[in-house]
Amino acid sequence: MTRSFLRDDDLSPDEQAEVLELAAKLKADPYAARPLEGPQSVAVIFDKPTLRTQVSFTTGIAHLGGYPMMIDGNLAKIGKRESVADTARVIGRQASAIVWRTYAQSDLAEMAQYVGVPVVNALTDDFHPCQILADLLTMREKLGELAGKTFAYVGDGANNMAHSYLLGCASAGMHVRIGSPSGYTPRADIVADAEAIAAQTGGSVTLTDDPQAAAEGADVLATDTWVSMGQEDEAAEREAPFVPFQINAELLALAAPDAVVLHCLPAYRGKEITAEVIDGPQSAVWDEAENRLHAQKALLTWLLERP
Ligand code: NVA
Repeated sequence: MTRSFLRDDDLSPDEQAEVLELAAKLKADPYAARPLEGPQSVAVIFDKPTLRTQVSFTTGIAHLGGYPMMIDGNLAKIGKRESVADTARVIGRQASAIVWRTYAQSDLAEMAQYVGVPVVNALTDDFHPCQILADLLTMREKLGELAGKTFAYVGDGANNMAHSYLLGCASAGMHVRIGSPSGYTPRADIVADAEAIAAQTGGSVTLTDDPQAAAEGADVLATDTWVSMGQEDEAAEREAPFVPFQINAELLALAAPDAVVLHCLPAYRGKEITAEVIDGPQSAVWDEAENRLHAQKALLTWLLERP
């Protein structure tokens, strides 16, 4: 059966561990996997802005022996010129996989339903699961075994990063804390799914509106922009509620002494994180950005080489 990666829990906890193990191997030996030899093409489609995702997928697909077929979402107008299903039927006859950044999770699901090859979520309004694989790889490098460690995210609890951290870190057996202002809390169904996963893996899920309580003793402290792509019109109203949730030296001092700081980037210094912290010694953001490459190569290899 063709498998896709539309949200973090499309990989079981054991499968997530396999992908992370493979990612570490490919980081050490970048050309060890060649599932796209030919080269076969992978359609890489962006309906929203990108930098890290484009760089890491195009580089990674080339490392895997394949050809990254870049499709400009503004030209393709998927779901507007023709249905997502019809687009899927066309691309699936030629490409070996699809990597798609778009708005609606339901469009991604429709693509996966009709395409017949693996579909990878390169960010939607709801989830950013490739970023979480990279973050988990980074945390493994810095902290070793992840099960039982405490992961704290402060900021917009209703965005794609918060939702993916809930599912992905719970799958890794971590204690996940989300600190967010009221009105910006995670979706209830995703929290319930994360709690169900945590019950299996020995992790836990805690929601709070107190950033200090979220950060207290945490092994990892993460944040993301207060204004996600597509929310630019809300930028002014999204400032005040989030100010207490900034990662700054005071908040970081509450975390574990060697706590690792993560940010998926792009970062807005002076907003969700201070320059002192993101450019400081506990920040792992550049390793995190590089690890997109290794994690996504492992994911694509795992999806393509499944029997
Ligand atoms: N929450 C952010 C993540 C950017 C990588 C956004 O969707 O814009």
